[in-house]
Amino acid sequence: MTDQKFNPSQKFVQNANISSSSIYNEANADTDQFWASQAERLTWFKKWDQICQWNPPFAKWFLGGQINASYNCLDRHVKGSKGDKNAIIFEGEPGDSYTLTFNQLYTEVCKFANVLKSLNVTKGDRVTIYMPMIPEAVIAMLACSRIGAPHSVVFGGFNSEALSNRINDNNSKILITTDGGWRRGKIIPLKKNADKALENCPSIKNVIVAKRIGDKMDCNMSKGRDLWWHDLTEDISDQCLPEHLDSEDMLFILYTSGTTGKPKGVVHTTGGYLTGTSSTHNIVFDAKDDDVYWCTADIGWITGHSYVVYGPLLNGTTTVIYEGSPDYPEKDRFWRIIEKYGVTVFYTAPTAIRTFMKWGAERLLKYDLSTLRLLGTVGEPINPEAWLWYHKHIGYEKCPIVDTWWQTETGAIMISPLPGVTPTVPGTATIPYPGISIDVVDETGQPADMGYLVIKKPWPSMLRTIFNDEQRYIDTYWSKFENFYFAGDEAMKDSDGYIWILGRVDDVLNVSGHRIGIAEVESALARHPAVAEAAVIGRPHQVKGESIAAFVVLKEKFEGSDVLISELRDIVIKGIGALAKPDQIFFTDELPKTRSGKIMRRLLRDITSGQAIGDTTTLADSSVIDTLKSKC
Ligand code: WT7
Repeated sequence: MTDQKFNPSQKFVQNANISSSSIYNEANADTDQFWASQAERLTWFKKWDQICQWNPPFAKWFLGGQINASYNCLDRHVKGSKGDKNAIIFEGEPGDSYTLTFNQLYTEVCKFANVLKSLNVTKGDRVTIYMPMIPEAVIAMLACSRIGAPHSVVFGGFNSEALSNRINDNNSKILITTDGGWRRGKIIPLKKNADKALENCPSIKNVIVAKRIGDKMDCNMSKGRDLWWHDLTEDISDQCLPEHLDSEDMLFILYTSGTTGKPKGVVHTTGGYLTGTSSTHNIVFDAKDDDVYWCTADIGWITGHSYVVYGPLLNGTTTVIYEGSPDYPEKDRFWRIIEKYGVTVFYTAPTAIRTFMKWGAERLLKYDLSTLRLLGTVGEPINPEAWLWYHKHIGYEKCPIVDTWWQTETGAIMISPLPGVTPTVPGTATIPYPGISIDVVDETGQPADMGYLVIKKPWPSMLRTIFNDEQRYIDTYWSKFENFYFAGDEAMKDSDGYIWILGRVDDVLNVSGHRIGIAEVESALARHPAVAEAAVIGRPHQVKGESIAAFVVLKEKFEGSDVLISELRDIVIKGIGALAKPDQIFFTDELPKTRSGKIMRRLLRDITSGQAIGDTTTLADSSVIDTLKSKC
């Protein structure tokens, strides 16, 4: 920890969208009114009758209001003065690049919305999107929102099993995908994965396939089911009126890992989500008309939804979309992109920053990053060394850094400095956003210096429920404390009221800023015929934050081997995706368990870290500790 404080520079404050802390007082004095003023930045077909209805734990926002997300991202700007401004700057991994103006994006979205309509997609029908980071993914999302069909975006790095589980959870009618995507010069066979997934997805009527790879790979098209994007959009009208949606109509479902093996379908609705994302993008990222804004997240995650697509487009900001990885073809790809497009605001994850640190600051010397004026981070706590490196080598010591804490469930940023107001301290996301009531409490719900992070009042962009599982919504977030939202994070509050996030308190790992449920990895491993039982833990990792280690008990007649290790890694990659792959796999005859049979993962963590073994009084058989110690 460091106590070094960084004040916003005079130059930044002078031009900042918000430069006075009075916004906090306003929001505190009348929180509903504050959110109403933020909602008024959007265009509503019909204004709301009531700002908020709080029926714990169920909230509704802007009741009676009618609105459309794609209208607010596009039509508004096209009708105004931004038609010819770039909405999207696309940089593909193989080096192809192009731009789409707001006019062009609007036209493509209208056409694709008509395609969906022609395939009988109507309001309320779910559509799954499984695509790489290409503009068609954004077009698909906005086309869904235009006709009121909730989208469910599945990260392109996930595999067929994860895809089919998500499709079947919400019974999507349509799947939108591509023939493939590019990753480090290799082709990711998305359509092939999709075909495998669809072997048991009866709800899917049609698959729409956008061509990304083209002649370089074969793409099987199943007759009657699979349709090419380019064929469907060829002769279709580019006029499509936006559906007037109720503020509380579902905008999308996005799955996130929880403590059980089954991912949760987090439900976001329209009016509140748009209010939260447009407000925070405007204020936290100090959105300006001439910004070239780049958030490096994939649209498969909430950060991509809120801060690659909806937030910036709602504010008419140019958003950069990059398909590939930071190290392809060279480890300077990101700096080339920043220089090439004159990126002004850059938002990425601490794990990426630590990777850049590892690659060395010398690589940056060739590039001019002076267009940058504001930097952000998200996904996990940022260690002060990485913060200071980011500040010095990327921000040239002139850019404020916004460390933003939030979650899939919160929809928008909840804790963050305001770049023109809040002094920053490396390692803390500082204080709650205006209108957000967050505290750190003990087991009994009383304020404490260290304890659980809770949100005490409803906020517009909060999740409304878990899709088709209201009980899980109640159990996960609203059962630990009465009427406080339980975030699942542990945190500390210092004497300035700054909040330091310490990490998750549940069985969820944070690997490179991605949430991975322990139970999901364990059940993937247990599907291997040789496995009797598996226990998974996170280990501190210099770059990823946490890496995955698995302890595997084999069935009789099976023996641990390198071949088996690679088969086990494979089964996780196939079941979930490469990001959940265990870095280490240990074979053992036994796992440490309590007398009631619960696996004591805490002891596994102690053993692997070489730390003193904690309390073992509840352990059924203590000899297992010595056996395990000899293996790790
Ligand atoms: C969890 C949410 C929404 C952002 C991407 C991840 C951790 C997120 C921070 C931060 C410390 C952070 C928390 C949170 N987290 N941002 N700035 N500092 N921790 O979304 O997959 O829903 O994960 O990520 O543990 O609960 P997510």
